[in-house]
Amino acid sequence: MKISILGSGLMGGKLGTIFAQAGHEVVFSYAKTKGKLERLAKEAGAKAKAGTVAEAAESADALLLAVHWSRVDDVLKQAGNLSGKVILTCSLPMDADNSGLVLGLTTSGAEELAKKVPKAKVVGAFNTIPSEVLFGVFEAKSRSSMPSLVYCGDDLGAKRTAAGLIRDVGFEPFDLGGLKAARYTEPFALMVAEIAYGGAKGPEMAYQFEWF
Ligand SMILES: NC(=O)c1ccc[n+]([C@@H]2O[C@H](COP(=O)([O-])OP(=O)(O)OC[C@H]3O[C@@H](n4cnc5c(N)ncnc54)[C@H](OP(=O)(O)O)[C@@H]3O)[C@@H](O)[C@H]2O)c1
Repeated sequence: MKISILGSGLMGGKLGTIFAQAGHEVVFSYAKTKGKLERLAKEAGAKAKAGTVAEAAESADALLLAVHWSRVDDVLKQAGNLSGKVILTCSLPMDADNSGLVLGLTTSGAEELAKKVPKAKVVGAFNTIPSEVLFGVFEAKSRSSMPSLVYCGDDLGAKRTAAGLIRDVGFEPFDLGGLKAARYTEPFALMVAEIAYGGAKGPEMAYQFEWF
């Protein structure tokens, strides 16, 4: 699959690298310097390359939006027409200093994104996990018990794509239903961040749901 990364920082850089190592064609885009994108592509291997946001958007079967909330409009403007595209968003609607959500309860970042690109197929995914654990989860993929990753969206085909990519990274996809569920997953992501960055054990952590 052709996957384009819009925002090649902690999340986009790592997930793009993993997608490339899992066999997908990856374009890294949107960093402050072209050199950063080229370095990421080189390190991710032969399946990866660097590009502009417009190039990345045009060629993609699926896009990962991984920018700070304040950069979303800029990325979408550079991307151009995203009609029909699958957009996985891990972007959380955080304030400028990343201390809290700027919206919630009656809407979510994922739903507001979907309003901005009504003809795209938005899935909320990869937002409830710290970037620090991604390579570890990928390396442990063959283990029998995989950590969970919640995702949600309104388009079933886009969700199937998301579930496949979630499995490629090494998580067990946990379907939370429609995009409206992002009202719960986004605050949940902040809870995970509290455990990851506020706890004693560090951020290389994931979660799993169990029934007894
Ligand atoms: N980090 C996590 O563990 C985590 C977990 C869950 C959800 N999230 C969410 O995921 C999203 C991405 O987080 P992140 O930690 O990956 O952020 P990040 O490391 O800051 O990455 C953001 C990317 O945007 C680029 N960028 C920023 N300003 C730009 C500009 N003016 N022009 C061009 N490129 C620009 C950065 O470029 P440079 O690379 O050159 O700096 C970087 O590649 C956020 O919405 C965050 O809330 C993050």
